[in-house]
Amino acid sequence: MQRADLYPEAQKVLQTNDTGLFTKPAPNQYPHQWNWDSALIALGLSHYNLPRALLEIRSLLRGQWRDGMVPHILYPTGPSHYFPTPDFWQITKSPNAPGIPTSGLTQPPLLATIIRRIHTRTPISDFIREVYPAVFNWHRWLHTARDADGSGLVCIIHPWESGTDDSPRWLQVLGNIYPPYVPQYQRRDTVHVASGERPSNADYDRFMYLIDVFRRNQYDPSALLAQSPFLVQDVLFNAILYRANQDLRALALDLGESPEMIEGWLAKMQEGFDRHFWDEQRGLYFDYDVRNNASIPVNTAMTFMPLYAGVASKHQAHRLVTEHWLNPAEYAPNTSVRYRITTTSQAEPTWEARRYWRGPIWIILNWLLEDGLRQYGYHEFAEEILRDSLKLIMRAGFWEYYDPRDGSGCGSPNFSWTAALAIDWLATKSLSHSLPQRDESL
Ligand code: DGY
Repeated sequence: MQRADLYPEAQKVLQTNDTGLFTKPAPNQYPHQWNWDSALIALGLSHYNLPRALLEIRSLLRGQWRDGMVPHILYPTGPSHYFPTPDFWQITKSPNAPGIPTSGLTQPPLLATIIRRIHTRTPISDFIREVYPAVFNWHRWLHTARDADGSGLVCIIHPWESGTDDSPRWLQVLGNIYPPYVPQYQRRDTVHVASGERPSNADYDRFMYLIDVFRRNQYDPSALLAQSPFLVQDVLFNAILYRANQDLRALALDLGESPEMIEGWLAKMQEGFDRHFWDEQRGLYFDYDVRNNASIPVNTAMTFMPLYAGVASKHQAHRLVTEHWLNPAEYAPNTSVRYRITTTSQAEPTWEARRYWRGPIWIILNWLLEDGLRQYGYHEFAEEILRDSLKLIMRAGFWEYYDPRDGSGCGSPNFSWTAALAIDWLATKSLSHSLPQRDESL
């Protein structure tokens, strides 16, 4: 693909996946509406079709539960070949369930950040007035229903809530769960994508067992906090929430709403990042297993996400960059890995170049990191990640993820957020000195 074709080709992907009401993350693999995908898709759309972008957000909020949760999947168009099917979740057991079929989990809360980004470019005050209460309620739900220890950090109760489903960070936590039974189910995710690029069957058995625990507890938030065998404070999820709280605060001030509660959340979270996540000895941020009261010492690219949140000190940022980002045994390019940034440090024994969140490059992580590195003045590294991301797309197309060794595409082709984020970069960054015009020169 030539550089000049990137923007129109990305638009084509979004158009092909557009159902009119929401945009599918991928044509076959993910045929419904996903939470954080939709937020990023709205950002991409906002650059050339603002009304359609706002519709994407309104559609997502139609799935909001009565207690404030915004679910991770919405099934507004009914069942498809995708598993889990809408009825697998049995959400009608919960008095909080909305009027349309959804999953019973949530996902990283990017929405407030995306709304503010759009607003900064094109004022959408009426729209903000309309959706602010829903977004605020979602954040309040996270800070109450999911704050298990009063630390201000929120917990996830299922790997799917992290968005990084089979990350090696979850291996030990899942390994400590011995499901006494596994509900009947049939995977459909390996119909369109090679099984070597998807989570293992052992992971899936636990994913399904956890959902069964939740539906048996009728999705009662306090029962789930008390009983979920998977209860984790995730660095990525909390970094996204921290940044989203900052953006929600800015929206509140614009509307003349009180920012007080949001400021309270921010102050507590900041302290939580240092106390629960930062490992001074290794110079890394690690997730925290609340159920077993233990840090999860697995080195993945999520360790850099406090840069995106802006919660790392200069000292912490310096250590992350000098000891890890630049280390060819972990994240820097070397004789095997050519592109940034592998999802998992290559030094981890669980590193796998093509399997989902075990090693491949994801454009969303690069997009978060490009922003985070700039915040701390590492412009050269931010440029590098931007250049690598666009090169990968020019060379292989809009894939779900990429093999960091040769840049070939993995997972699903025509992936919506890859297209949406390429549009965002092309619309907001100057690429003159960083990206060649043609893919032959890459
Ligand atoms: C899947 O089906 O793999 C999704 O990641 C669940 O959200």
